[in-house]
Amino acid sequence: MRRCRVGVVGAGGVAQRHARVLTGFDDVELLGVTDVVGQAAADLAGRHGGRAFGDVTELLAAGPDAVYVCVPPFAHGPVEEEVIAAGVPMFVEKPVAVDLDTAERIAELVARQGLLTAVGHHWRYLHVVDQARELLAGRPVRMVNGAWLDKVPPVAWWARRDRSGGPVVEQAAHVLDLLRALVGEVAEVTAYGDGSPPPVEGADIDSVTAATLRFDSGAVGTLATACVLGWKHRAGLEILADGLALALTEEGLTIRDAEGERHVGADPDAARVAVDRAFVDAVRGIGDDVRVPYAEALRTQRLALAVAESARTGRGVTLPTPPATSGPERVDA
Ligand SMILES: NC(=O)c1ccc[n+]([C@@H]2O[C@H](COP(=O)([O-])OP(=O)(O)OC[C@H]3O[C@@H](n4cnc5c(N)ncnc54)[C@H](O)[C@@H]3O)[C@@H](O)[C@H]2O)c1
Repeated sequence: MRRCRVGVVGAGGVAQRHARVLTGFDDVELLGVTDVVGQAAADLAGRHGGRAFGDVTELLAAGPDAVYVCVPPFAHGPVEEEVIAAGVPMFVEKPVAVDLDTAERIAELVARQGLLTAVGHHWRYLHVVDQARELLAGRPVRMVNGAWLDKVPPVAWWARRDRSGGPVVEQAAHVLDLLRALVGEVAEVTAYGDGSPPPVEGADIDSVTAATLRFDSGAVGTLATACVLGWKHRAGLEILADGLALALTEEGLTIRDAEGERHVGADPDAARVAVDRAFVDAVRGIGDDVRVPYAEALRTQRLALAVAESARTGRGVTLPTPPATSGPERVDA
């Protein structure tokens, strides 16, 4: 069986993780890496047995079976356009862009090509997420409170709004994705930022953001973000349904109901492996467990940008009504 030959665009932190995970699979080989910083591509390729390519065009000319797009938020768009034009299955890291226009344009091109895609929302592969979904089945969610309270990550582009999109888009994207997966689509958001950047050179993002969310189901929720701590304080969500409270993080699920409280541990590393395994299996045609294709990530991007826009303008933002689905039940009581 020929191995799946993967090309990687961007050789930073997350690309290093994907390269490590992918080359740990028997049926995958790293074809090569390209990065605007040539040495970064050479270093990563050198570590995992692939070649360094001068640009995406050269990488695509070598005939990869799949491409991982691991660039910072502001750099999305041109890379994806080339990969889509070549018809190569594409894994894109979150957030899929810094803005909505780019994400909508790429989603349209993906849909037109019928291209296989996956986006790096690996939290969806935590087994405690499946467990939370089972516990919530038949019990309408009343309220969900999401939070990402953390530090400014050590990458130069992060604290600039036009580079990262800000903490809601860049960091809280995982929480917003899960909140949609477990509670359904959000109809309207209102958010406030503090208008004061964290103490980092060149920063122009809000240090903290507080948002309220109204879901199509009638449920309500909040999202809090902060990037002024020196550590990752809390990232996850609390979900309240009748007689049930769930607290979900990458590390585990705490369940509180009439029987008392219990905790189930999670394995975030396993979820990071599972998201890659599912994509490779789909590329090889031996699996069908891509949980967040590009079109699904676009909805999370819309929500994140709605929160960011409301925080910037001080006005509420209404999201487009999605087509009817058999999603979470409406709370009418
Ligand atoms: N899913 C996750 O758990 C997870 C974890 C970490 C990062 N990420 C996401 O991955 C993305 C990248 O994060 P990172 O920490 O790897 O950033 P990084 O800054 O460490 O690496 C980005 C790399 O991309 C390169 N690059 C920039 N523009 C490029 C272009 N046009 N073509 C080729 N290479 C280009 C840079 O030179 C750099 O080497 C971010 O959007 C981040 O949110 C996701």
